[in-house]
Amino acid sequence: MTDSAVESAYALLERAVVHYRGQPVGTVAALDQKDLAAENYLDCFVRDFVPAALVYLNDGKADIVRNFLDVVHDIRGAGPPLPGYERHPGVMPASFRVMRADGEEDRLVPDFGELAIGRVAPVDSMKWWVILLGAYVRATGDTEFAQRESIQCTIEQILHLCVRDTFEVFPTLLVPDGSFMIDRRLGVYGHPLEIQALFYGTLCAAEQLLAADDRSKRLIETVTKRKQALEAYVRKYYWLDRATLNAIRQFHTEEFGADSQNILNIYPESIPDWVDDWLPEQGGYFVGNLGPGRMDFRFFSLGNLLAVLFGLATDKQAQCLFDLYAEHWNELIGETPLKICHPPLEGEHWRLLTGCDPKNPPWSYHNGGSWPALLWAFTGAAVKIGRREAAERAFDLAAKRLVADQWPEYYDGRRGGEVGQRANLNQIWSASALILSKQILSTNQAPLTAMQNPNQGKP
Ligand code: GLC
Repeated sequence: MTDSAVESAYALLERAVVHYRGQPVGTVAALDQKDLAAENYLDCFVRDFVPAALVYLNDGKADIVRNFLDVVHDIRGAGPPLPGYERHPGVMPASFRVMRADGEEDRLVPDFGELAIGRVAPVDSMKWWVILLGAYVRATGDTEFAQRESIQCTIEQILHLCVRDTFEVFPTLLVPDGSFMIDRRLGVYGHPLEIQALFYGTLCAAEQLLAADDRSKRLIETVTKRKQALEAYVRKYYWLDRATLNAIRQFHTEEFGADSQNILNIYPESIPDWVDDWLPEQGGYFVGNLGPGRMDFRFFSLGNLLAVLFGLATDKQAQCLFDLYAEHWNELIGETPLKICHPPLEGEHWRLLTGCDPKNPPWSYHNGGSWPALLWAFTGAAVKIGRREAAERAFDLAAKRLVADQWPEYYDGRRGGEVGQRANLNQIWSASALILSKQILSTNQAPLTAMQNPNQGKP
């Protein structure tokens, strides 16, 4: 069963490869369905290609990854969105398409969020690009590529966008709603965990990628300081377990001055009712979002798992996260791994925060749906911290369902039991996540962890 599922995933991945001027440069998001949910599923999405890229690196097929990095690099910042308004050159597209007309050279058409339905800037793309560049260099030893003047310059531009002075008081990054995997409104504006984890991963990768010369010295120092500040802040203030919940309940509010305990002025009354029942004795997680006067208590899988992979979580926090998964296995893994977030927005919250988005009703799509594409991050994080059994169990569930259901994009329902109502079939990152998970289990090596310092992640 497992082997044939992986074989079938490879066959799909092979059919999905996109070529540009004769070279493989990425994979489309979904294939072969008459009614793709939107036309841009024929684009190559930056975030969707990441698990495929890691598969290719593991298989020694690094060319496609290098070509992808090159192409995305070349189209960054392209095309002013409005007359007289130029895009920052560090901004990378959510996706791109290769246009081919008879007798003409292939042309690349990027989408920076103006074309896709959600109409939001993909803040995660530039971060995935840096992180993948780090993985490519580690896998191939091709430091020459990363040291190219234009690539170094792009890393600097990306960092300037993220670490330059802003209006912010805290070390986290402020972004609009839906600027990452959840790319439509879902009340995920502000300081969503997934972006903070990716930001952290980017800073770790950049420290190693920037040439250690006089030009970069100051920038590397800034990057290291910001990384440390971000790490301390997320570990302390995003973390929720019984002890921190009790502390929040006892918070004094409206404190003035530097000695304040409740530094974000969170009102205990804002703790939703479900939290007390849901949070086990053993276990904890990083909350979904945190900013002045606002803690979003929802649980978001990818941000938590990336925090483990990148070493943003301490070892103890990582273990507690997997205790939470064990405690809530039916809800968070269910029939088809794994839930994107929990619990979903319902009623008035759904109306106000999604703007009545019909694709995001409770227990579907981004709003509590289950996404096979997340499996690799779960497998990687579990293997990294010695919780292999959880990864194996989730993998078996996925292998059983995904082929039979033709690689759906997402599943609906409390337990993720039904193929998503508006899900594409033959969704490529559902297939590449399964292959990558298999590779992780076979080698017992988690991806994207090597950019950490040996002491990161402790205590
Ligand atoms: C949806 C997802 C997004 C993904 C895209 C292509 O818009 O929300 O994360 O990149 O589909 O698969």
